[in-house]
Amino acid sequence: MEEEFIGMPRIGDLAPAFKAVTTQGNIDFPADYKGKWVILFSHPADFTPVCTSEFMTFAKMEPEFNALNCELVGLSVDGLYSHIAWLRTIKEKIEYKGMKNVEVNFPLIEDITMEVAKKYGMLQPGESNTKAVRAVFFIDPVGKIRSIIYYPLSLGRNFDELKRVVIALQTADRFDVATPADWEPGDEVIVPPAGSCGIAKDRVEGKEEGVKCYDWFFCTKSISKEEVLNGHKLEHA
Ligand code: BEZ
Repeated sequence: MEEEFIGMPRIGDLAPAFKAVTTQGNIDFPADYKGKWVILFSHPADFTPVCTSEFMTFAKMEPEFNALNCELVGLSVDGLYSHIAWLRTIKEKIEYKGMKNVEVNFPLIEDITMEVAKKYGMLQPGESNTKAVRAVFFIDPVGKIRSIIYYPLSLGRNFDELKRVVIALQTADRFDVATPADWEPGDEVIVPPAGSCGIAKDRVEGKEEGVKCYDWFFCTKSISKEEVLNGHKLEHA
């Protein structure tokens, strides 16, 4: 049997637009999020354990994402009443890693027609024909997809990594730099060579203060943790 072709948006594409019903009312995506970063993520199914642990973790960390001007939007191919019942059960009954009484306040999209899941390549038939994989789309304030991470059904996401990705993308934009392996706020950043990432030529010729070059292709500079973490507050003040 021939497999249905399922398109997938790529990094640098505009986020595919859709209107949907969510646990927090109707949304027009990504128009409603103009000027904000958004993490649009899918989970395989309501009333499943790994997804439950993920929702509790995301709900607990939501204020940390919001402080980065980043909103969370979840999706599964379940219906609205299933979503509502699952989130109520989580709040009333589930305890995980010291978290309990957890209320999920970010929107969870109902996608029984799978229209949105198909648009975003969240259905990956080799993994499941009926459930979305754990996809994570990082979308910037102008609606462009800036990073995508996919996890299989059996693997719960690392939410510190998702937060690190948002901070690293914002840092790259704000300071015109790249972030090296295992970068965390406060670590040295990479000043990319001229011609890559739209970087001006004088940066690699040693004209920019504080830039250390080990060879023409490897230059670094320091940006303090405070500058990295406070920068976006100034931008959105
Ligand atoms: C889970 O969230 O636990 C799960 C969902 C679908 C398949 C396997 C695990």
